Amino acid sequence: MKDIFILGIESSCDETAAAVVKNGREVLSSIINTQIDIHKKYGGVVPEIASRRHIETVNAVIEEALERADMDFSDITAIAVTYGPGLVGALLVGVSTAKALAYALKKPLVNVNHIKGHICANYVAHPELEPPFTCLVASGGHSHIVYAKDYVDYEIMGMTRDDAAGEAFDKIARVLGLGYPGGPKIDSLASEGDPHAVEFPRVKMSDDSLDFSFSGVKTAVINHIHKLDQRGEEYSKADIAASFQNSVTDALCSHTIEAALRKNTKIITLAGGVAANSQLRSKMKNVAEEKGINVLFPPPVLCTDNAVMIASAGYFEYVNGTRADMRLNAEASLSL
Ligand code: KG4
Ligand code: ZN
Repeated sequence: MKDIFILGIESSCDETAAAVVKNGREVLSSIINTQIDIHKKYGGVVPEIASRRHIETVNAVIEEALERADMDFSDITAIAVTYGPGLVGALLVGVSTAKALAYALKKPLVNVNHIKGHICANYVAHPELEPPFTCLVASGGHSHIVYAKDYVDYEIMGMTRDDAAGEAFDKIARVLGLGYPGGPKIDSLASEGDPHAVEFPRVKMSDDSLDFSFSGVKTAVINHIHKLDQRGEEYSKADIAASFQNSVTDALCSHTIEAALRKNTKIITLAGGVAANSQLRSKMKNVAEEKGINVLFPPPVLCTDNAVMIASAGYFEYVNGTRADMRLNAEASLSL
């Protein structure tokens, strides 16, 4: 079979990224231009600034991805782009660029769902991985438990009813004065703290739902800190970070393992920025392996936003016949 080379483009939040991937699994290049340094002084992503920055960098990022892959546009089979979910202005930059390239170069255009992209990072990290499997996608914008039936067909088994897991990490990091993005900061501070210092709530849905809710634990942590502040008591930020992280990862692990048991899948994969969390990785592995379930996750650089995962998802969509035309638009609230 002829090799398929996909140029992936990602601009849904605060990373401008481009990558060339061969046959959905082999990375030929990956360029990520992150805007974290620009947004961190505001404590979070400022959408208007993100869009402008994407416009400034997208062409250079794509050129560099081709250069690193030692290719030019004529070697590319198709162009895959994230069209949602995400910040609409940010998404539009990638979508417009991909449309212009596809039109000018007469190449097929493939629209990719960002959440499916996160899941496909696992196909790159684990060349032998095949569906079906159960996947936890936890990032700044989403917390989904997904049953991957095949390479393009996914069933949502549970999702957050309020905040995404990453959003809760970012918020608590801000309250603790750790800066943005909060996930990695809490992750490293938590390693010095006692995860049982404070027992923050774990929400159990009344029905047999696998949905999550993180607003309760977020409020509990904020109230706890306010109380200590009001009393003028000294406290360990590391203990609070560790206890908060313990509560969130307990919920993520127990629901995901329950989902895998219901579908009788022997593989759980992790995806999205929160999948880079060291406690989530080790806890999921320990608990799932006791039940005979294997746990796989990508390296941290493929967990947070990147274009390799978009090119990989784009490959599976491409071989499945997915094509977009010049009417493709950004869809901020696209579901899986
Ligand atoms: O997937 P991602 O890069 O962007 C979205 O699609 O949202 O995820 C970013 C989120 C942020 O909320 C960040 O704090 C969180 O992932 N994150 C982590 C870790 N690394 C990134 N959360 C917990 N532990 C980490 N090590
Ligand atoms: Zn993402």
